Amino acid sequence: MRVHVADHPLITHKLTVLRDKTTSSPTFRALTEELVTLLAYEATRNVRVQTVTVQTPVAETQGVTIALPRPLVVPIIRAGLGMLEGMVKLVPTAEVGFLGMVRNEETLQPDIYAERLPDDLSNRQCFVLDPMLATGGSLIAAIEYLFARGAVDVTAVCLLGAPEGLAAVEKATEGREVTIVLGSLDERLNEKGYIVPGLGDAGDRLYGTV
Ligand code: PRP
Ligand code: URA
Repeated sequence: MRVHVADHPLITHKLTVLRDKTTSSPTFRALTEELVTLLAYEATRNVRVQTVTVQTPVAETQGVTIALPRPLVVPIIRAGLGMLEGMVKLVPTAEVGFLGMVRNEETLQPDIYAERLPDDLSNRQCFVLDPMLATGGSLIAAIEYLFARGAVDVTAVCLLGAPEGLAAVEKATEGREVTIVLGSLDERLNEKGYIVPGLGDAGDRLYGTV
């Protein structure tokens, strides 16, 4: 598993505002979108491309274009929806599929309650969007779901991660082509499975339910 933790003052600055409990939902949504665009740059480092010839006003030259089949972006509903615009801004030709997942806050086990993906993901590169990698249960279930449908590699873009969740994803996906791109690797999980220091419940903060 490849792990990339962002190390850029602009990302840390935006995350600091996001963490602040007084930040309003509209600001939280705007910052989430901006952060994803910055993280998407690293997340798409290994996107598959093919060589093309292009005629400039001056000469013919070789360049690249994103290869087919198109990359598939999969926001995890609900909180991952807040990351979608930031990702497709950078990769506008990507296809988008949806997975609805919720973590049972008693057992911390994930449940897939909705799915709208292409039937066959053979040979597809997938980009999963979910702001929080806490116990890792949700991300592991999403990654397993995509591999079971034929995906060849999965990159997850998360704003924050906990070391416990990262280790769990690494163990569960051993031998698979998996990349995790994080805005920050935080300290730990608390007894309720929340990331510390974290930012609280990402879905609630995005959609104003707090
Ligand atoms: C949050 C978050 C992740 C999950 C992370 O979603 O967006 O999907 O929890 O926790 P885990 O790593 O321990 O599985 P939540 O279940 O709160 O649903 P929501 O997006 O509808 O708010
Ligand atoms: N889900 C969240 O939204 N926040 C956390 O800290 C953990 C899981």
